[in-house]
Amino acid sequence: MVQVNDHYLKLKAGYLFPEIARRVKAFSAAEPEAALIRLGIGDVTEPLPAACVAAMTDAVAAMGRQDGFHGYGPEQGYGWLREAIARHDFQARGCDISADEIFVSDGSKCDSSNILDILGPDNRIAVTDPVYPVYVDSNVMAGRTGEADDGGRYGGLTYLPLTAANGFEAPLPPSPVDLIYLCFPNNPTGAVASRQQLQQWVDYARAHGALILFDAAYEAFIQDPELPRSIYEIEGARSCAIELRSFSKTAGFTGTRCAFTVVPRGLCGRTAAGEEVELWGLWNRRQSTKFNGVSYIVQRGAEAVYSEDGQRQVRQLVAHYMENAAIIRRELAGAGLEVHGGEHAPYVWVKTPEGLDSWGFFDRLLQQAHVVCTPGSGFGAAGEGYVRLSAFNSRANVDEAMARVRALAKA
Ligand code: MLT
Repeated sequence: MVQVNDHYLKLKAGYLFPEIARRVKAFSAAEPEAALIRLGIGDVTEPLPAACVAAMTDAVAAMGRQDGFHGYGPEQGYGWLREAIARHDFQARGCDISADEIFVSDGSKCDSSNILDILGPDNRIAVTDPVYPVYVDSNVMAGRTGEADDGGRYGGLTYLPLTAANGFEAPLPPSPVDLIYLCFPNNPTGAVASRQQLQQWVDYARAHGALILFDAAYEAFIQDPELPRSIYEIEGARSCAIELRSFSKTAGFTGTRCAFTVVPRGLCGRTAAGEEVELWGLWNRRQSTKFNGVSYIVQRGAEAVYSEDGQRQVRQLVAHYMENAAIIRRELAGAGLEVHGGEHAPYVWVKTPEGLDSWGFFDRLLQQAHVVCTPGSGFGAAGEGYVRLSAFNSRANVDEAMARVRALAKA
């Protein structure tokens, strides 16, 4: 009989979002009349920017013509998209990143997991707690951790607590690590990192020969122009950091699928024998072997994000969701709840009321307000006592959800 990957059996419960979906489905089956409002998973609701739709429509038409047809594209992405990304997202902000350091993909979630293919099994790994669950689960699946303890923490991982007490700033690890996952603006706490904080991390990584995997999927939501949007705005980052970016939240591409990973030339790891090897070459080899690229049509859509119209439309989308976040913050604070985040991120991190844990408050909001949130404990032990509300929804739904939560608070 075929042997399974035993490491999968170490995984705790279901992946968070399918588990929420299961509970919501059970509730809906029991109460089919309830009009649910979903502020759980961070999935966008607003239509694609018109510039992207027009570009993809043109690309579909081109694919139907002999002179516009495209078969396999470059595994790294088309040059015109990589050029546009390098120019607008990096060079315009003073980051020394070139087009050939950009690898276009179908998602940051996949990239954050696939990157393990090129990293050795014995790296000491640090993650924040709470954390985007994919970073942890993909290490568990790849056999890079021990078993989970009763609190759901896996042996071999260093957990860096993000708490109200430390202002949701990731503290440096107490003992040396080789691989550090950082996500800012943060999912789930909605916190943002200052230049000084990121400089501290880059300095740490360089001093310890560590690699930072910097997930900047939510950078477009940063409101303060002084805050860094890319790790490469930080001096020294080219030699210690890989950055993950996505069009999912920025341009509403969660169902369209396009993202990219930046691997700077000259960024090295070492072999078991101690020789230095460029990660760029390994990632290029990995992608060329295992990935066939993102569709031509979708890459044309992503390219349109950088047109003048695309930029304006994306700003409007971001403004829409950030106004939702402001409403959620204001209303929940008005209902007497302690709120964090939501100022430079589309997530609001809410302390549960006295006497309720994360799943308890999740159930209360689901059953009594018909509002779906995400229990903080699903993001890690330090997320216990919080829930996350996503600002990705229509204004009408956010207003209605907040009216229901206010009514519940008064009841
Ligand atoms: C979330 O809700 O945390 C995100 O939607 C997850 C993701 O982007 O994969």
